[in-house]
Amino acid sequence: MPRFRYEDDDDAVVDPPLIRRRRRPARRQPPPPEPDVFVDEPEAGGVSLSTYAEATHGPRPVPDWVVASGNAVDTDRGPIKTGKEADVHLVERHDPASGQMSLLAAKRYRDAEHRLFHRDAGYLEGRRVRKSRETRAMANRTGLGRQLIAQQWAATEFATLGRLWSSGIAVPYPVQLDGTELLLEFIGTPDGTAAPRLAEIAAGRDELEALWVQCVEILQALGAAGYTHGDLSAFNVLVTDGRLVLIDLPQVVDIVINPQGVEFLARDCRNICTWFARHGVSEAEADELLALILAARPGRA
Ligand SMILES: Nc1ncnc2c1ncn2[C@@H]1O[C@H](COP(=O)(O)OP(=O)(O)OP(=O)(O)O)[C@@H](O)[C@H]1O
Ligand SMILES: [Mg+2]
Repeated sequence: MPRFRYEDDDDAVVDPPLIRRRRRPARRQPPPPEPDVFVDEPEAGGVSLSTYAEATHGPRPVPDWVVASGNAVDTDRGPIKTGKEADVHLVERHDPASGQMSLLAAKRYRDAEHRLFHRDAGYLEGRRVRKSRETRAMANRTGLGRQLIAQQWAATEFATLGRLWSSGIAVPYPVQLDGTELLLEFIGTPDGTAAPRLAEIAAGRDELEALWVQCVEILQALGAAGYTHGDLSAFNVLVTDGRLVLIDLPQVVDIVINPQGVEFLARDCRNICTWFARHGVSEAEADELLALILAARPGRA
């Protein structure tokens, strides 16, 4: 590079005058190919090492029954139910060293073409992901986009379950989140029989009355925490030992912040009251339930 000198000072060396070069426009690179989307096909009887160590964990205090050892082994004991948006399998996690064992419900959000994205449009609005490429992929429902949406649903349900569980609301404890798979506390009997859904039980009048009282308490507690289920029905409530447990909560609605929150709440009240009323519980009245929950909603005196 030539050196520039002042005329009166032979030793002074200065930088060359700043010449601003016009930047040649960067050649447009073709976008990198989307990574292949692999769908792990769950295999009944499949055995694998526990992923607990690498996964996101549920809220503290972690219950004693959670098998946390990195040497534990997971055995997929087959499907509990294939749903519209996810498959739920029974998984047995066993630590051979300590002999500790627990049953888990593995909810695997489907990202394949067959998944029904009926919930995506309204509920996903306003949720942001950092990278615009990802946002585009999601909007265009490409393979990557569908995978990301499925991951979002899984992450949202996991976070929601953690929040509700920590508030003492009857939901399964979320043990871990790993991509599109949630491992949840299994609601059922120790032999691996899943608890029936409310819609499936054959209960007498007294039992139904008791379940109704419990249902009101749970929905009031949920409302007091600021939420409504968003897709409440007798299919998303399990019954175990006379206890109700709410499940399937990825679309939980914030009834304080969401402008349509009260509408979602009213719909949830209607759905569950219609079911109880049809089964002979005359107190199940949607407007009354709605008023009760609204009265307990946070942000009200
Ligand atoms: N923690 C659990 N313990 C036992 N069984 C469970 C658990 N979670 C889910 N299930 C079973 O799996 C079914 C599907 O779960 P969930 O409702 O969360 O998924 P989904 O894909 O939304 O299903 P659907 O389309 O039927 O509503 C439930 O109806 C229930 O029978
Ligand atoms: Mg469901």
